[in-house]
Amino acid sequence: MQIPAAKIHFPPEDRKKILAWIDQILESGQLTLGGYGKRLEEAFASYVGVNRAIAVNSGTSALEIPLRCFDVENSSVIVPTNTFFATPAAVIHAGGKVIFADCTDNLCLDPSSVKRAIRRDTKGVILVHIGGAVAPQTREVRQICQEHGLFLLEDAAHAHGSTLEGQKAGSFGEAAAFSFYPTKVITSGEGGIITTNDEKLYQRALVFRDQGKAGFLGNIHTEMGYNWRMSEIHAAIGVTQFERLEEFIVARRRVASIYDRRLPEIRSVSPLRIPTYVKSNYYKYIAYLDKGIDRAQLKKELKEKHGVSLSGEVYELPCHLQHVFKEIVGGKEGDFPVSEDLARRMICLPTSAVMTDAESNYVIDSMKQVLK
Ligand SMILES: Cc1ncc(COP(=O)(O)O)c(C=O)c1O
Repeated sequence: MQIPAAKIHFPPEDRKKILAWIDQILESGQLTLGGYGKRLEEAFASYVGVNRAIAVNSGTSALEIPLRCFDVENSSVIVPTNTFFATPAAVIHAGGKVIFADCTDNLCLDPSSVKRAIRRDTKGVILVHIGGAVAPQTREVRQICQEHGLFLLEDAAHAHGSTLEGQKAGSFGEAAAFSFYPTKVITSGEGGIITTNDEKLYQRALVFRDQGKAGFLGNIHTEMGYNWRMSEIHAAIGVTQFERLEEFIVARRRVASIYDRRLPEIRSVSPLRIPTYVKSNYYKYIAYLDKGIDRAQLKKELKEKHGVSLSGEVYELPCHLQHVFKEIVGGKEGDFPVSEDLARRMICLPTSAVMTDAESNYVIDSMKQVLK
């Protein structure tokens, strides 16, 4: 059996629909900022439970645009070190300074680390819902932000449809950024979307998205924007995937339930504990190896002897130890011990919307054999 780390799924009827829609788009001549983008935005906003959504060309731009709206230039923003490059990079591209903070053992930004990191020039905090589980301490971090007059930006790149106490990711902060990159739970090819309840931020984000132009047709530029537009073709793909989101999440939760049930059979691996009030979309199924187990060797044997590919970790090296941020922000081994330890021991089991029960069981059986 061959088990890929992830599988992108476009059912045949969706592929047909996408081709028909693309034909329609080409016929209409409206290739960007048109009806499919609007449809994706309206459907996504209503699904998340916010007033507004803005479709953009990547999850990275979905982070940078709100940061520009918060005017972070020459101010600092607190970012967890256990995140993807794009989270701190967006702060730097928006002219801000990054302050890294640690996480707790559930991978959520640690509220006490946030409190310690606040400086006089701090304007906000980015909270990342790692692996698709809404950060369990979201409300505590929100409270700290409110007490200190800081914005809260959710990096919900992984968390389409995930909830905390029934409330959807993307509705907890002043704004949120989702990614539609191909490996994500739903994709538009490339793309992203911002969600917000803040009408002023929404209006400004529209301007930033389109080269800082005050209006679509004019040529008056009022903001330092960029080309962050989503094409209609990408939006059409995104609409078909969005219509599958709930179905995909159900399928991923089924895979996760098999892993949850069977992982205790392997003594040297423990799953990330997700509290019952958080419902993950299982973008990733995260587990930890006991200290001393060689992750690279485990991955190699799983792949070579059993055809099982583990997916990329989230993340294998914390940002403060990444070469580029070490230089810009500064950072050394030992600065954020929890993130460093979890990054070393984390594995992500294969998940997708089309994995069968037999495949999920095969993953566990293979791991059992390699780790026995
Ligand atoms: C946590 C996180 N933030 C931001 C991004 C950036 O998204 P994109 O690749 O769509 O620019 C990613 C994705 O890949 C991510 O994993």
